[in-house]
Amino acid sequence: MTIKEIQDNIIKLKKERDICILAHSYQAREILEVADFTGDSYKLSVDASKTDNKTIIMCGVRFMAETCKILSPDKTVYLANPIAGCSMADQMDKQLISQVKEKFPDYTVVAYINTTSDLKTVCDVCVTSSSAVKICKKIENNNILFIPDCNLGAYVAKQVPEKNFKLLSGGCPIHACVNKEDVIKAKETHPKALLLVHPECTPEVVKYADYVGSTSGIMEFAKNSDAKEFIIGTEISIAEHLQYMYPEKSFYYLSLKLICPNMKSTTLMDLYNCVIGKGGEEIILDDKTITDAKRCIDEMIRLG
Ligand code: 13P
Ligand code: SF4
Repeated sequence: MTIKEIQDNIIKLKKERDICILAHSYQAREILEVADFTGDSYKLSVDASKTDNKTIIMCGVRFMAETCKILSPDKTVYLANPIAGCSMADQMDKQLISQVKEKFPDYTVVAYINTTSDLKTVCDVCVTSSSAVKICKKIENNNILFIPDCNLGAYVAKQVPEKNFKLLSGGCPIHACVNKEDVIKAKETHPKALLLVHPECTPEVVKYADYVGSTSGIMEFAKNSDAKEFIIGTEISIAEHLQYMYPEKSFYYLSLKLICPNMKSTTLMDLYNCVIGKGGEEIILDDKTITDAKRCIDEMIRLG
C-alpha cells in the first residue's frame, strides 16, 4: 500500500469503528494528517476528555495515553506503539517522591504531565509546559515542589518570583543536550532568525530565547510573527512541520541532537495496525490509580 492508501484506509476504518486518533505535534506529518486532534500535551489531554468516541488511539508517548485513560476511564485507550515511552517520565517514581514529600510536608507537589500515572497519585496538581506558569501563580501555597523537570521548574520559578520553588534534578535528556555553544553557532549561521525554544531546554539556552513555550506555543508564535526566519529549539519535527506549513518563512534546527527516539518510534503502519486491531497496546490502569491520579489532572484542568 502507498502512504495515501494507508491513510485512506485509516480514515475509513476509524469512522466505522468509532475511533478518535490523537497525535502529538512531534509525530510525523503523515500521522498528523489522519488525526482528529493534534497539538501539545495540554491540548491533547483536554481534547481527549471531550471526545464521544468509544476508542482513543494515542500517537505520542505512554504518559499521554495514560492521561487519556485517566480522563476517560470508560473508553478503550491504545498507545499506537507500545515502545514509545518518555525518558523523563521514567526518571522518578512514587516511592522517591513520597520520601521527598516527607521532608517538605508544607510544599504543594506540582508534577509535570511527563510523569507516570502511578507517580501522579501522590502529587497535588499536574502542569504542562503551556500551563505551568499560570497554574503555579494560581496555587494558594507559596511553597512549590516542582517535579521532575528542573529546567522547566527553573523557567517557571523565574516567571513566578513571589513563590519558593524546590527542584529535583530530573529532565528531558534530549532537550538537556543542547548547550550555549549550539545557540551561538546557530545564531552566527542565521543572524536574522528569532530563537524559539521549549522550556525543557537548560536555563543557559532559554536565556537567549526570543520566545519560550510549548510545542503548540512555538508553532503559534512562528505563525503569527512578522519575522521571516526562526531557529527552533525543540524536537526537530516542529521545524519540519513549520517549514511545510509556512514555506514563505525559513526554519532552522537549533541542533540535530534534538531527536526524540520515543516520539519517532510510532509509524503510520503502527497506527494502521492499531486501527485494525493487530497492534498497539491497550492501556489498563486499576481503579485506584485512575481515581488518585485523576485528582491532580482535574486540578490542572480547573486551574489551567
Ligand atoms: P508539550 O507539552 O509542549 O507538548 O511537550 C511535551 C514534550 O514531551 C516535550 O518534550
Ligand atoms: Fe519525553 Fe523528552 Fe521525548 Fe518529550 S522529547 S517525549 S520529554 S523524552
